[in-house]
Amino acid sequence: MKTNLQQQFQSQYNKPAQHTFFSPGRVNLIGEHIDYNGGLVMPCAITMGTYMLTAPNTDGVFRFKSVNFEETAEIPLQPSYQKTGKGWYNYPVGVINYFTEAGKQLQGLDILYYGDIPIGSSLSSSASIEVVTATALNILFNAGFSKLQLVLMTKRVENEFMGLNSGIMDQFAVTFGETDKALKLNCDTLDYEAVDMNLGDNVLAIINTNKPRKLVESKYNERVQECRTALKALQQELDINNLCDIDTATFDLYKHLITDPVVLQRATHVIAENDRVILAAKALAANDLTEFGKLMYASHHSLQNLYEVSGVELDTVVEYAATDKNVVGARMTGAGFGGCAIALVKKDGFDSFAKGVTEYYTAKIGYAPSVYSSLIGNGAHQITA
Ligand code: GLA
Repeated sequence: MKTNLQQQFQSQYNKPAQHTFFSPGRVNLIGEHIDYNGGLVMPCAITMGTYMLTAPNTDGVFRFKSVNFEETAEIPLQPSYQKTGKGWYNYPVGVINYFTEAGKQLQGLDILYYGDIPIGSSLSSSASIEVVTATALNILFNAGFSKLQLVLMTKRVENEFMGLNSGIMDQFAVTFGETDKALKLNCDTLDYEAVDMNLGDNVLAIINTNKPRKLVESKYNERVQECRTALKALQQELDINNLCDIDTATFDLYKHLITDPVVLQRATHVIAENDRVILAAKALAANDLTEFGKLMYASHHSLQNLYEVSGVELDTVVEYAATDKNVVGARMTGAGFGGCAIALVKKDGFDSFAKGVTEYYTAKIGYAPSVYSSLIGNGAHQITA
């Protein structure tokens, strides 16, 4: 892979790449649509991700090319940058914008990206390209940002430059991820713990619905807004900053303050999901995967019925999983509206599960899903020769 990418860089730019960087994608085990509500999430970095090869140029421009996309861009060094069109290169341009805004001196770079995360599959290909770029610029130009500062900056790229009001989970997971660990992250305080993925005789399967995602951004921002409305209603009587500052028992005492039934549904999901993350972390620590699996299903059904971010494709995967004796638990992962589901599957039964889910899904949806057995990998880093 690396040699091949070196060759591709050489043929694109007629010179060798000097540095290579990598940032993973992520899956979220549990705690969905929680990060922007100041609660707990449990993501882990995966081994699929984005590679970035660079060499300096003396032309004072950033050249962006990708193995995955035909579209290229050449953007001169300038005091600030704006999003232009819908091109993929806006993500790295956004990163450059905030380095420049922070007064960092940059120089022209020729860049080639390659990603093996399926695009738009809710495995955080966008956080991956943002963070790989930020990691590279930080090292190449001795910018001196801490990892946490890079996380906060790349979140700004998503929120302010790209216009998606997402939380901090994706950028955090792909920056701080550790091999074979899940991150139990408090999205309010940003305290986190890397916990062992005690999967025993099981593997983590990723099932990509291959559904072309549409309207994800507008629906996502709508959910964020609904949560803000719920919070405002509760703040009439409660001194809280985030929906996840209360548990279900307290919520039951105050939920009458939320008058809109849809907003009430959204808040009910958020608060119960946050409680589930606490239980899931305990179950994982105690090696009680049966309990963990039950919580995964409960999370999915809440996202399906209360938060309404699933869809027939994701539901079909989880519906099948519940009938397969090799599966301990399954749920959608990430923003939803298509993208991927995850399942905890007995190692010995993985092939049978992959075959079963593919047949069931194809018969119902009309095209096949892609099924992977996932490895939990490291966060963003430079790849040395
Ligand atoms: C997307 C966002 C995250 C998070 C998830 C849902 O991945 O980027 O911040 O909100 O959706 O949990």
